[in-house]
Amino acid sequence: MSTIERALEKRQQLGAQQREAATVDSDDSPAPPAPAFATPSTSADGQPELPGQDSHFGRQNDEPTDAERETKNDREQIYIDTDRLEQLGMVTPTENFTPIKEEYRYIKRPLLDNAFGANAEKLTNPNLILVSSCHAREGKTFTALNLALSMVTEHDRSVLLVDADVINPNLSQRLNISDRALGLLDYLNNKAEVQDIIQSTNIPNFKVVCAGTRHHHATEMIASAKMKQFMKELSSRYSDRIVIFDTAPLLGASETSVLAQMTGQAVIVVEEACTSQRQVERALSLLKPKMAIGLVLNKSRTGQKDYYGYYGASKR
Ligand SMILES: Nc1ncnc2c1ncn2[C@@H]1O[C@H](COP(=O)(O)OP(=O)(O)O)[C@@H](O)[C@H]1O
Ligand SMILES: [Mg+2]
Repeated sequence: MSTIERALEKRQQLGAQQREAATVDSDDSPAPPAPAFATPSTSADGQPELPGQDSHFGRQNDEPTDAERETKNDREQIYIDTDRLEQLGMVTPTENFTPIKEEYRYIKRPLLDNAFGANAEKLTNPNLILVSSCHAREGKTFTALNLALSMVTEHDRSVLLVDADVINPNLSQRLNISDRALGLLDYLNNKAEVQDIIQSTNIPNFKVVCAGTRHHHATEMIASAKMKQFMKELSSRYSDRIVIFDTAPLLGASETSVLAQMTGQAVIVVEEACTSQRQVERALSLLKPKMAIGLVLNKSRTGQKDYYGYYGASKR
């Protein structure tokens, strides 16, 4: 059981009034993450309706949706250098055994179970996964990308990775691809269609949406009805696809909790060296109750296997 998990368990025992922040130990040398993933409550009943969820999405009978048009206008592939990713210590679609692959095998399993297994019907949009954290630089992009690559390489799952951290986007930099391509903000700003922003890659079943052209109303655009419509489309038209949203930190960026209203699952990255229990609790309180929430302990220096455990979102 991880430090954060122990802290959360302690919190449950002591009750809300007796909470105290507990900062975990620090170390300079980051190591692969150790996960602690939550399954959705088995007692969860029904699926929460989101405000205005259905009102925006009516369409004429056979009119193709944006998501459907994507397949008709599949774009030229962008090239991702997997050797470079492997050198950076990331999960890659090769046969080589690496510790990071093993770590992400463990992290992704409950996510895939929640998306496509028996738990799926208890969740709304279970194939949409939000990756966030309390603060910047805790490893959101690192985690989102590794998760995506792990899923496409070993489960033959189609994964779309969306850079929704529009203030500090770094997915394109991490993948070493052009950041000038049309992206999410261009779509939300009515400058591009869905098929213009979804980029196919040389990695089979792996597509990306970059953040797009910077805009001074970027955060409002992420929290807009059009973004909800986009997410709803992705969930319903591609229910067999995993869509991972790499987002801004939950604390101090209100648009991330708006995005979380539309995703069935959330992965919260906790940096072992610096995230306190109180910060994690505040971040979790910004998520809706009936979603599957997992904690990934990142930059752990101990790498102990007994990190693995479960923290149930319904117990918040
Ligand atoms: N588990 C890890 N092992 C090694 N480096 C990591 C790990 N997690 C994150 N990093 C590094 O830490 C920095 C911040 O990570 P990043 O994913 O960009 O954070 P965020 O998206 O939360 O701002 C990056 O340089 C990244 O490569
Ligand atoms: Mg990032």
